[in-house]
Amino acid sequence: MSPQQPQEQLRIGLRGRPRMSRQQQKEYCMSHPTRTVAVVLAGGVGVRVGLGIPKQLIKIAGKAIVEHTLDALEASPLIDEIIVMMNRSAIDQLEPLLGNDRFPKLTKVLPGGATRNDTTQLAIAELEGDDTKVLFHDAVRPFIDDRIIGDCVEALDHYDAVDTAIPSADTIIRVDDNGLIADIPDRSYLRRGQTPQAFRLGVIRRAYELARTDVDFKATDDCGVVFTYLPDTPIFVVNGTAENMKVTEPIDVHIADKIFQMQSNSLSLENISSVPDLTGKVVAVFGGSYGIGQSIVELAQDAGAQVKEFSRSTTGTDVRSAKAIRRALRTVHDELGRIDTVILTAGVLRISPIVDAPKREIKETIGINLVAPAMLSREAFPYLEESGGQVVLFTSSSYTRGRANYSTYSATKAGVVNLTQALAEEWAESGVRINCINPQRTHTPMRTHAFGEEPEGTLLDPVDVARVALNVAASNLTGQIVTVQVAQMAAAKA
Ligand code: CTP
Repeated sequence: MSPQQPQEQLRIGLRGRPRMSRQQQKEYCMSHPTRTVAVVLAGGVGVRVGLGIPKQLIKIAGKAIVEHTLDALEASPLIDEIIVMMNRSAIDQLEPLLGNDRFPKLTKVLPGGATRNDTTQLAIAELEGDDTKVLFHDAVRPFIDDRIIGDCVEALDHYDAVDTAIPSADTIIRVDDNGLIADIPDRSYLRRGQTPQAFRLGVIRRAYELARTDVDFKATDDCGVVFTYLPDTPIFVVNGTAENMKVTEPIDVHIADKIFQMQSNSLSLENISSVPDLTGKVVAVFGGSYGIGQSIVELAQDAGAQVKEFSRSTTGTDVRSAKAIRRALRTVHDELGRIDTVILTAGVLRISPIVDAPKREIKETIGINLVAPAMLSREAFPYLEESGGQVVLFTSSSYTRGRANYSTYSATKAGVVNLTQALAEEWAESGVRINCINPQRTHTPMRTHAFGEEPEGTLLDPVDVARVALNVAASNLTGQIVTVQVAQMAAAKA
């Protein structure tokens, strides 16, 4: 390939294209009947992450990383079939996904090879038809999105090989064997390669056939094989995204977790103006007599749900008591036949340095803010397993860092976040979901009591927070901490 070629391709590739809507993707499929297969490369071990299990099985936001990747591919109308090439030693972990309603496009879970390129070749051997469009995607890039898939599939109408890449923020240097800088290539022509790497099947198959005859064959990706062995084949480059990162080092597990949180934040903003239809749903709200809980009760009723509200003041329900919660939930189930959502908004916020705080208040804060969510989750589980339902808890922005003068409160709010994440993992198989809403300062009686009246425009409206909570309750999310921010909410409304 001439030195000019990749530059030109990069320029085109990074021009930015409009995103195809789901409807447009469906129409595209009708007019382009060629089969498109996604191959999920999951044959690796994840030595660098070093958690002792193949990294594609690490659970983030309630699901194994590879399941998130499969969710994205399954949801794309442009993908007809998915095969997974799994690390041989752990293949039994993914086999149950075959024939499962969650992934109807998944046709095979097969053992991967010793190297990534071996894994690709084993997949190629399973596929048929030179024209078939095939997307090879790293299992450990769970943030692949519709736009990237669309750009890759569409680009294969014009090119036989397609890469996904993003510009490099860092200057890339080339070093020599002595660790000295040998070259500093112009950064504007450099890109960081991601996946998918997409090909017409005949082309990638031919490239590997040629590679196998080369005793010096060395590559870490699939485009590299086409680049070296079929140099006349142009490789088009589509834009990746920063989110489409590869979970590689231990820190990436935390970054991936944050990206899931950010994605769930955007859910809250998209849905600020409406509440989903809740006709036929049964919602139990604990702490629903005032503030956000009261708004949830009203909005859920307006949206068609049957709602039961429990609180100390209205029904004498002490949320710290498993027995009281059990009794309340049994009443709801006996009366209405099901429970779809259990929401806990009860909470207390007492301001004082720990040395001055009465012991009774410390115990009350821990009881209502942390013991109650644990008890409620425990008692609600059987009902939610029956309905495929969800628990919604509340935390506060103090969960990320303890705050002076309300130390116990912030400690319990960190606890609620951990509880949510842990239970999402425990319940992943059962289909029961659990999420946690993190509203910034909200105009509630509890807040006014603690901090006094605060300037207008600096507080969230409890109705907005309630709307977000009901949207989360109706979503497929689990294990998410959904932050609702004053500034974002104001911008979304403007
Ligand atoms: N991969 C594969 N077969 C292999 C090696 C890797 O399918 N023999 C897959 C991995 O499962 C991963 C992707 O290729 O989804 C990217 O590889 P990399 O990040 O290098 O993964 P690992 O080899 O698992 O990581 P490590 O090098 O830290 O062990």
